[in-house]
Order: sequence, then C-alpha cells, then structure tokens
Amino acid sequence: MKTIIFYRSSYKGNTFKVAQSIAEVLSAELVSIDTNPEKDLSKYDLIGFGAAINFAAHDIQLQQFVAKQNLSGKKVFLFSTRCRPLLDFYHSPLKKIIKSKGGSIIGEFSCRGYDRTGPWVVVNGYNKNHPNEADLFRSRLFADKIRRKAHPLAAINKSRVIEYLKGVSLRQIGKDRIVGKKVVFLNTSTCVHCGRCLNVCPMHIFTYSEIILPYDESNCIQCQLCADNCPSSSIFIRESFLNGIRIALRESFSDELQNAYQSNNSIKEE
Ligand SMILES: Cc1cc2nc3c(=O)[nH]c(=O)nc-3n(C[C@H](O)[C@H](O)[C@H](O)COP(=O)(O)O)c2cc1C
Repeated sequence: MKTIIFYRSSYKGNTFKVAQSIAEVLSAELVSIDTNPEKDLSKYDLIGFGAAINFAAHDIQLQQFVAKQNLSGKKVFLFSTRCRPLLDFYHSPLKKIIKSKGGSIIGEFSCRGYDRTGPWVVVNGYNKNHPNEADLFRSRLFADKIRRKAHPLAAINKSRVIEYLKGVSLRQIGKDRIVGKKVVFLNTSTCVHCGRCLNVCPMHIFTYSEIILPYDESNCIQCQLCADNCPSSSIFIRESFLNGIRIALRESFSDELQNAYQSNNSIKEE
C-alpha cells in the first residue's frame, strides 16, 4: 500500500514527531508542505495530512495546500497537535476541504503539543514534554488501525464466494483470488509462498498443500502476527467485536484454543 503523508510543523516541531511515528508504521513517504511538493497523488493508495491547530483549525497553509489537491476516490486520514486538552471541532474545516476534494476520510488523530504562546508564557509553557512517549504510542496504534482499514481486502466479505477449496471459500476481485471464510483472508494471487504465516501463527491455522490456506480460522485469536509478517501484505484479518466475543467464549468454555496452540509444541518435543 503506497502511502504519503503531508505535514506542516512550524512552531515547535510537535506535529513532525507525530508525523514521523505514523509514517514509520505505515512505511509512508513523509513530505513537508514547506518544500512546495508537487506529487502525482494518483500513484498513492493512502494519503495523510497533519499540522498544528492554530486558531481552532489546522494550520492555514496546510488547509490551502489540501484545497489544491485532487483526492477523488482516495483514502485519507488527518492528524494534529494542539494546546487544549480537548479536540473540540478543530478538525472540521480540514475535513470539509478533504470531502470537497473527493477524499474519503478513514480516520483522524490528535494529541497535545507544547505551547508557549499567549498566557502560557507566565508558566513557561503548557503541555511541557508533549507529544510524549504515551502520545507517540497512541499515534502508532492509530497508524496500525489505519493500515488495517486501508488494506485492499478490508471489504472482502462483501464479495461473492465462487467456489470452495478444501471447504475454504474462494472469492475473486478482478484478477485476485482470495481464500478465507469469515475472519482470515489470504490473497493467493499475491502470496509469495514464503511460509512465514505457517511459522509465526501461534494457533497453527494455516495449511500448505498446493497453496497456503487459512484452514482452521475458528482458532484465530486476531494476534495479527501472520498479517504483520507477510512480505506481500497478502493476509487480512477481519477484526470484529463478535469475533472477539467468540474467541473469549471458546477460551472460557473449551480447551480447543489451548489444544491448537500446543499442537505444534508437542511435535517439537517428540
Ligand atoms: C499561532 C498559534 C495559534 C495557536 N492556536 C491554538 C488553538 O487555537 N488551539 C490550541 O489548542 N492550540 C493552539 N496553538 C498551539 C499549537 O497548536 C501547538 O503548540 C502545536 O502543538 C504546535 O505544533 P507544531 O510545533 O507542529 O507547529 C497555537 C499555536 C500557535 C503558534
């Protein structure tokens, strides 16, 4: 997923810290709008915009920059740093611009940033040390969520099943053939057969005969290790509240999860 983040951080570099941590998680290109970038956005699947909140809205230069872009059909997220403890309606003006340019907003993030303007000079600044480690940790969690939401297979369950392979549903999107029932999906057309998912899955839900299949997804605990370790981003776990409940019940009222977890360990002990 090709991602670009445009940011402006002109006061204390607060927003830059957040932009960096989000970019790291998304492996995104990070671009300051102060460099007057001219990028062809058609090459990107996901676009982020971030800046300080100045006078109850995003930095005016970022707003003007976004207003010049064509975001038609693009997935977009936005973020900010600000002085006040509550976000209020600070994101509304930028959100309006993004929507008017055709972008579809899939998430937003904001945290506090150090501010030594106006009355705050009296106490040598407010939000000292922000964004701090906890803020940056939350920004990484946000980026992780965005990564899942923007995954090409995120809407896979809406596609029709065309056949079954060893009881596992097969769906087709364009040229891509995707296997998986309701929770774990694998794009067989982009899978490079490295076998990492088989090795890292603690619940041993994958099998490999001619292709890799998420065979036993009822034991999936949504740890995301398979998806995070897939070099071609071919795996998608459809997280849901219901799935969380299902796993909790399975763990509480049967030993099937423990058995699945231990199955490989017992092989190693032989
Ligand atoms: C000109 C100016 C206006 C600001 N207006 C607001 C505001 O309306 N609300 C708020 O919460 N913080 C406000 N702040 C504080 C900044 O949003 C905060 O310090 C931010 O983290 C700065 O980010 P940066 O270092 O990336 O530029 C303002 C700061 C400046 C310099």
